[in-house]
Amino acid sequence: MPGEVAVFSPEVEAEIDRHLAKYPVKRSAILPLMFIVQRERGYLDPPGVSYLANRLGLRITDIWEVATFYSMINTKPVGKYHIQVCKTLSCKLLGARNITEHCAKKLGIRPGETTADGKFTLSEVECLGSCGTAPMFQLNFDYHENLTIEKVDQILDALE
Ligand code: FES
Repeated sequence: MPGEVAVFSPEVEAEIDRHLAKYPVKRSAILPLMFIVQRERGYLDPPGVSYLANRLGLRITDIWEVATFYSMINTKPVGKYHIQVCKTLSCKLLGARNITEHCAKKLGIRPGETTADGKFTLSEVECLGSCGTAPMFQLNFDYHENLTIEKVDQILDALE
């Protein structure tokens, strides 16, 4: 909504203050604060970005630069379950494309899309640091590794 201002509870403001107090330079708290704003608002929306710029003494563009670099920061709404399939080398060589295509077919969406019921978002991301257990995806905060089509079915069916 244009002109909307991000407002947080006193508890969340206190949490933000605690993070800011940890760093000699305010801008160093940008990632922890982004996570808090994302957690509270569902994703990093323009009012959340303005709030962060004010609290950190940065420009709006400084916030967007960081937000759009990290795949763990969502700059648009995501579903209840966010599947992020690693598409980098180890995972790619061991079948990440098949995993993505299977998820896409099963959920009826393409990478970058969310199901109409808001339940699932499918994304492709760069290396998630779990190359030894490729192929893998991150489902919200959990890693699922050594994926096969059968394993993907089990994981997604349990969420339906
Ligand atoms: S290449 Fe997939 S986790 Fe590193």
